[in-house]
Order: sequence, then structure tokens, then C-alpha cells
Amino acid sequence: MVLLIGSGTGILLAQPPDGLQRGQSLYREHCMDCHGTAGKGDGPKAPFLSPRPGNLVSAATSAKTDKELLRTIAQGKPRTAMPGWKEALPEEDQQAVLQYIRSLIQFSRSPTATPPTP
Ligand code: HEC
Repeated sequence: MVLLIGSGTGILLAQPPDGLQRGQSLYREHCMDCHGTAGKGDGPKAPFLSPRPGNLVSAATSAKTDKELLRTIAQGKPRTAMPGWKEALPEEDQQAVLQYIRSLIQFSRSPTATPPTP
């Protein structure tokens, strides 16, 4: 049990592995202005958009499957500022950027305090 907790913490503190670096640079180049550095939907362009860009580390987005999110990335989201990327990015780049978004969920520390144990 102690061992499990130990290794879990190790994973949380680790830097994103090399495979994610491509996703990270793609994200910084194409997505960060709207979705924000940490994916919280607070990029510099966000205040000027309605509806506001999604919080990619929200429970609602996390719960969506890779397939659903890849579809949104490829085709954009109707009636929002979210553009479709299928012309601009090859499929493996769309996947790399999705992996990076998933890693933000895993690696970011939640600003909300852990709920008290009953
Ligand atoms: C011009 C601003 C803008 C840019 C650039 C942008 N997005 Fe978005 N994105 C939005 C908006 C607005 C939404 C819709 C709001 C929502 O889904 O909550 C959205 C929604 C999404 C969603 C759907 C979230 C969900 O829960 O369904 C994903 C995934 C996403 N964006 C990924 C990306 C990726 C990856 C990039 C870069 C390749 C990117 N976005 C670039 C504005 C932007």
C-alpha cells in the first residue's frame, strides 16, 4: 500500500515524458491563446470570446472519450470560436495535442483544496 502511494506520487511529480513534447509545442502554438497555459480556458483571447473557451481540465471534458475530443479538434465546435484543425494539422498532431491535454489533467495540481475526509 505504502509502495503504491509512493509510486503514484512519483508519477504525479514527473515531467511529461518526451512523447508529449510535440503535443506541448503544438498546444502552445495553436491552442494556448484561447484555452490558456494550463488548459483552464483562461488564455489571453478568452475574455473576448462568447461562449468562452472550454476548460480542458474540467471534469466534463475529462469524462469525454478520445474519440469525442478528437472529433471536436478535427471539426471544431459549431457556434463557438473553436476552429476545426483537420486542414491545419495532420491526424498524428491532433492526437499528440490531445495526449498533451490529457497530461494537463494528470500533472496539474488542482487549486481547489482536497475535500475533508468525513
Ligand atoms: C479561437 C479560440 C480557440 C482556439 C485557437 C482553440 N480553441 Fe478549442 N475551444 C474554443 C471554444 C470557444 C470552445 C467551446 C467551448 C467549450 O467546449 O466549452 C472550444 C472547445 C474545445 C474542445 C472541446 C471541449 C469539450 O469538453 O467538448 C476541445 C477538446 C478543444 N477546444 C481543443 C482545442 C485544441 C486542441 C486547440 C488547438 C489545436 C484549440 N482547442 C484551439 C476556442 C478555441
